[in-house]
Amino acid sequence: MKTIAKVFSMSSLSAKDFPPNFLWGAATSAYQIEGAAALDGRGPSIWDTFSHTPGKTFEGHTGDVACNHYNLWADDLKLMQSLGLNAYRFSISWSRVQPEGRGAWNAKGLDFYDRLVDGLLERGMEPHVTLYHWDLPQALQPAGGWQNRDTTAYFADYAAVVAKMLGNRVKSIATHNEPWCTAFLGHGNGYFAPGIADPKANVQVAHHLLLSHGLALQAMRATGTKVPLGIVLNQSSVTAATDSPADLAKAEHEYNSFVRWYMDPIFKKRYPKVEGMDPTPYIQAGDFDTISEPLDFLGVNYYNRIWASAAKPPVPAPKLLGVTDMDWEIYPQGLEELLTGIHAEYKLPPVFITENGMANKDKLEGGEVEDHERISYMQSHIAAIGAAIKRGVDVRGFFYWSLMDNFEWACGYDKRFGIVHVDYATQKRTLKRSAHWYRNFIGSQKTA
Ligand code: FCB
Repeated sequence: MKTIAKVFSMSSLSAKDFPPNFLWGAATSAYQIEGAAALDGRGPSIWDTFSHTPGKTFEGHTGDVACNHYNLWADDLKLMQSLGLNAYRFSISWSRVQPEGRGAWNAKGLDFYDRLVDGLLERGMEPHVTLYHWDLPQALQPAGGWQNRDTTAYFADYAAVVAKMLGNRVKSIATHNEPWCTAFLGHGNGYFAPGIADPKANVQVAHHLLLSHGLALQAMRATGTKVPLGIVLNQSSVTAATDSPADLAKAEHEYNSFVRWYMDPIFKKRYPKVEGMDPTPYIQAGDFDTISEPLDFLGVNYYNRIWASAAKPPVPAPKLLGVTDMDWEIYPQGLEELLTGIHAEYKLPPVFITENGMANKDKLEGGEVEDHERISYMQSHIAAIGAAIKRGVDVRGFFYWSLMDNFEWACGYDKRFGIVHVDYATQKRTLKRSAHWYRNFIGSQKTA
């Protein structure tokens, strides 16, 4: 079996063991927390449409209200400050700032992010922005959305406006969050908005997302901003169940379609060969030059590993550390494997772990949430990052997913990822045990 038996020593885990300016933050995204779906001129996104379509989300949940962060943002910032976070990653709702995805801008929407960024800076937290966390303005969908190459140019226009407005204050701007999810889950199997299940659409959208990323970097750089620009990719290590040629080939296939499909065009100006995925119909001359526009940073989201077994039925993964409430295997050493693997294969810019976290069956009892499973998850993954740094990977920060419980896409409010508990009936926030642990951990960065 090709697993690496490794136990991270956590008893002495301290933020002091990380580079002195290492960022300890938390992450969220617009549709998952903001609510206020129709307030102050926000236009609908494909996630509004999708979540309002019967049968698409758990018990028909939508992001209409979510955590009402659009109205409660100032309290949320105070809460984050109380945790000692030194950075916060959030996304901008494109349809809040430009309701139709092209044409008119919505001043009230732009003001919201302006205030949020100032509020973060006033409280000593670095703002890290993501432009696209899956919520395409619905107005662009009838013409094909991401299947339409024109959307790439609209995205670049949007990016430039955000860079002009926030580029002098935020500490990074990422173009896309997890383009694999937009392409595959949105267009390959239809599990996410816009709910299209077509393997060709998956490849076409993947290419357009990468192209739009490159165009957006160029458009933002043309504004003269000096803010670091990058992209956030979801990545996994892959383990072959055995050393059999069939399992190894399956592992290679998984890694190519999940990790290299997005890394190769950006860093090597080409796609890997993956059976059933032919990008040639969508590529135009010069596309790879655009896509490979240099990155100032790479954001990596890691949740679990991919287990590759060609046997029928597949040999199950051992899952020695168990699974989360998403049924995702807990496999912290995969994060070290992944980071050292991509470090060896590509010429990486500085890396941020832009998401990592677990859904847990949390219970609020007597005003407390004793989520000790989450503390172990955080400790072991942070230790894995420390191990990767020791092996030469230039990781600069960690953003826990998520700051607070929120709308977990197709799973609605059924899955809780936060270190802060949200009571959706009252919007009351309660720090979970993991939030207290994280605060103490971050505090150890500064102690003598
Ligand atoms: C990631 C998404 C994030 C959240 C976590 C659990 O894929 O970027 O919005 O759903 O998974």
